[in-house]
Amino acid sequence: MISSVKTSSEKSLAQLYRDVRARTMQIVAPLEIEDYVIQTAEYMSPPRWHIGHTSWFFETLLQKYKPGYTVYSSDFLYYFNSYYEGFGARIERPKRGTKSRPTVRATVDYRNHVDEQMLALLDSIDDQADELRSLVRLGLEHEMQHQELLVYDIKHLLCDQFDAPIGVAPKAAVKVEGMAEIEGGLFWLGYSEVQCRMSNVQCPINYSFAFDNEKPAHQVFLQDYALDRALVTNGDYLEFIRDNGYKDFRWWFSEGWEVVNREDWRAPLYWESHDDEWMIRDFAGLHSVSDKASEPVYHVSFFEASAFAKWAGKRLPTEAEWEKAACVDAKQFPWGPDSPNETKANLLENNLWSPAPVGSFPEGANSYGCHQLIGDVWEWTTSDYVPYPGFKSEFDEYNDKWFVNQKVLRGGSFATPQIHIRSTYRNFFHAHERWMVSGFRCAKDV
Ligand SMILES: [Fe+2]
Repeated sequence: MISSVKTSSEKSLAQLYRDVRARTMQIVAPLEIEDYVIQTAEYMSPPRWHIGHTSWFFETLLQKYKPGYTVYSSDFLYYFNSYYEGFGARIERPKRGTKSRPTVRATVDYRNHVDEQMLALLDSIDDQADELRSLVRLGLEHEMQHQELLVYDIKHLLCDQFDAPIGVAPKAAVKVEGMAEIEGGLFWLGYSEVQCRMSNVQCPINYSFAFDNEKPAHQVFLQDYALDRALVTNGDYLEFIRDNGYKDFRWWFSEGWEVVNREDWRAPLYWESHDDEWMIRDFAGLHSVSDKASEPVYHVSFFEASAFAKWAGKRLPTEAEWEKAACVDAKQFPWGPDSPNETKANLLENNLWSPAPVGSFPEGANSYGCHQLIGDVWEWTTSDYVPYPGFKSEFDEYNDKWFVNQKVLRGGSFATPQIHIRSTYRNFFHAHERWMVSGFRCAKDV
């Protein structure tokens, strides 16, 4: 089982480092050695690459902050760099699965070496080393992003052949229906340290860090709007398919329609047609859609989410509309200021390896009755991934170079670690991508 990382903000950085690094290895533990090096699509990475790349990230800190540190291997720097121009030459992404070296054993040795050096470095610094401490925290958030990517990539690689430690799925405890009408007006969008410091409760660990792309908080104006209380389910989505949704150009953006035809899309990724019945393959096996009708649909692209919304006479929310719903009354989370736990949201520590039925987490609802805003599936928004007004990059090439041609998703998924998610968190993917855990809920003008 994936264990939880304690959420106390008092936890030392070294302990957080140990826990987060250990969890990556917990996720890959059921893999066989052959699984680590295979690349099944250009957009996924072999698990061996993830465990080395997350170590490479920390080795860049060792090179800068540890006096006399010598690089472990220049070959590793080449193989495990992802996309950082500033850190030199690197293997092209689609070729990560074309090399059998470094071996898995050598990669794990590298990982252990980096851990030993990093823990010694953390032991040697004092509380004044703010720059390094914040970079280590960034490195841990980066590692948690890769933990989630590992779940996507292992699914693409093995799906139900992977021996995932799946826990018992919850049952829907309440019926969730209709749309919440939410009053517009001026809204502070984005992360604010001041707001966090001013709150009269202890700031949850999730809010003791934020990526630069969530800042600065700034005022935006929202019209009144309505937002689905529930995520769109497989059952809802099947109706769209049965109504010829994938065959009717009227629901699709031109670019989406092109992809539908070019890729011959007829359903979400991981849906399979058997004897004219739609089935869904996931970590637990092959299921008929009717058995999963009340679970949120996922592995849909922005194009598919938008087409469904148009077919349904609705639209996708903007990220500001989503965020306002997720932190009503300036609470950090839909339910209030407490960090997420297993009863409030379906995140990585729930060990479900799947979204849960709508209505499974009544404790996580907001005061408007919107459920599962946090966890289960990332939610597509209509918003372009662009910098907020006043944006300042805090780390070169991490977020700032991706501010074009991508859409924002919000809320985290069943593969997101609990301490990693915030209501202000902005994830981003291209409109056609769907191998990640991406779903949606609809909005409407009122
Ligand atoms: Fe990375």
